Amino acid sequence: MLDVGGGPGTHARWLAEDGYRVHFVDPVARHARQAPVTAGCTAELGDARRLTAADDSYDVVLLLGPLYHLPERADRLRALREALRVVRPGGLVAAAAISRYAPLLDEAATGALADPAVHGTLNSSLADGRYDGDRGFTAAYFHLPDDLARELSEAGLADIGVRGVEGPSWPALVAAEQRSGTREPQDSAFFRAALDAARLADAHPPLLGTSAHLLGFGRRPSATRRPSATRRRAG
Ligand SMILES: C[S@@+](CC[C@H](N)C(=O)[O-])C[C@H]1O[C@@H](n2cnc3c(N)ncnc32)[C@H](O)[C@@H]1O
Repeated sequence: MLDVGGGPGTHARWLAEDGYRVHFVDPVARHARQAPVTAGCTAELGDARRLTAADDSYDVVLLLGPLYHLPERADRLRALREALRVVRPGGLVAAAAISRYAPLLDEAATGALADPAVHGTLNSSLADGRYDGDRGFTAAYFHLPDDLARELSEAGLADIGVRGVEGPSWPALVAAEQRSGTREPQDSAFFRAALDAARLADAHPPLLGTSAHLLGFGRRPSATRRPSATRRRAG
């Protein structure tokens, strides 16, 4: 598997523990140094838009981060087409995005919306998905679910799906954390209810955008078989 934009190796670690052979790419030198130590994978410094991997060389390519760090659509398509180039025919590409509605839901949950100064930035990112980083985080692009599906399709992937990751209850968890000052324990009834809500919402596409993150996936189409000489003659 190729983990592009693997950060500190969060996913590479459990994938390697599950027995997958993982290679890791990230443009941040500290991450590329850290990942082999924390995740036991091989790693290189690199950019999703210009992968060094050979054509057809991986079973799976993960892009769990780069798309929202690429505000220009052309750059996101370049990254997806690179993933498609290096995955084998029939192989899987999975790409994460931040939902267009995540900042609104987050600012509402934390009470930050009470400050009218926040509204301008929110209105602007709600309108076109682009965020210039003026309120923290970084310059980014926030996807609508259909946006992500279209980009995966335009890059050439087939059998495309988009799922919500956290479901509609994550703002309630954020608000509870804000009030108590501690993270909701993952074995609490409240946390488990949030997971149930995520599962229930999954079957209802209009609710996808209520997740903070979206996970899009698709397969590289298998090479189309050319008609054999015999069949061509018969036809
Ligand atoms: C939010 S982190 C996600 C890390 C990890 N994949 C995870 O899910 O925990 C986004 C990662 O994408 C990386 N990134 C940003 N721009 C990138 C690019 N053009 N090509 C590859 N990775 C990129 C960042 O350095 C960062 O490590």
